[in-house]
Amino acid sequence: MPDLSMSSQPSRNLGTVALKWHGDRLDLLDQRQLPHHENWLSLDTAEGVGRCIGDMVVRGAPAIGISAAYGVALAARQVTDEHWQSQIRSAIETLAKSRPTAVNLFWALSRMTSVLAGCDSAAEAVARLTETAVAIHQEDVAANLAMADHALAVMDDPGRFSVLTHCNTGALATGGYGTALGVVRRLHEAGRLHNVFADETRPWLQGSRLTAWELARDNIPVTLNSDSAAASILRQGEVKWVIVGADRITANGDVANKIGTYSLAVLARYHRVRFMVVAPSSTVDMALASGDHIPIEERDGRELLEVQGTPVAPRDIKAYNPVFDVTPASLIDVIVTERGAVSAPGVAAMEHLFGASRKAF
Ligand code: MRU
Repeated sequence: MPDLSMSSQPSRNLGTVALKWHGDRLDLLDQRQLPHHENWLSLDTAEGVGRCIGDMVVRGAPAIGISAAYGVALAARQVTDEHWQSQIRSAIETLAKSRPTAVNLFWALSRMTSVLAGCDSAAEAVARLTETAVAIHQEDVAANLAMADHALAVMDDPGRFSVLTHCNTGALATGGYGTALGVVRRLHEAGRLHNVFADETRPWLQGSRLTAWELARDNIPVTLNSDSAAASILRQGEVKWVIVGADRITANGDVANKIGTYSLAVLARYHRVRFMVVAPSSTVDMALASGDHIPIEERDGRELLEVQGTPVAPRDIKAYNPVFDVTPASLIDVIVTERGAVSAPGVAAMEHLFGASRKAF
């Protein structure tokens, strides 16, 4: 079994990957503890992987899908008797409950379910589900590299310029290289990047704890800013593109992504800064007509009431903590996937690249 901590394309720096498959276990870099502690957790059960997804040990839509696929492969290794198929199906159902918004989770589980349906024995299930999980992982890295190429072809700005990003969409959030941060990496490799402004991304601080750490490690110029500084930064004119990832893109081009993305899109349109969404086709959900139907995860209010365990608000106050929002397609200049770029996204352009509705998990 290949060790996917290393790239199948060794010439490219994929960044700091957060998941490593070892054939009989999945190692996950505990992203709750970054940037101060680099602790790896070793998982050998689907239930353990599901808990890690729910608790945000591993996060980011593509990384969630890849981890879940490995979780199913681990479940296949654990079956005990002639009920192997129902045992694996039950593990798939458990994994499906780990987080609701990123469709990559359901996409990966749907693909694993189809493979399982074609297996005639437990031994065959172990082999084929493992092979499929590894393929999902490798395809994600390849998609990220392809998306960066497509994105650079779209960005016609002369000279070096700055971009602003939100959340973490890098190697940590994917199989490697990143989606929006993959584009940033490629701009840097091409000598076209002046600076990345990274929103800190309240309340979980994916921007300050993960994006700033990941970019600084690879010597990519990054400046951290509070989320509320984004308007002033865009007004200054140095930023030519806001580049973000996605957790789910619907048939009309609406995009669910980390809370705060929608307000950034409104700001970008007001300041005439272009707005790019970068995501693999595993994030596209053609079964949903619009973003109104996307389940939006709400997390524990303590994520707002405390910072790293320290209370920062009055005790017992009510807190509203939706962790994703929906950006309407009309505010998006371009969606980039590994299949190509969709400018001014809408139903016709999305169907052209992705076909009509496909079955959801
Ligand atoms: O709650 P998270 O950290 O899983 O949210 C992650 C995001 O919103 C990312 O922008 C998205 O998953 C794209 S990651 C390539």
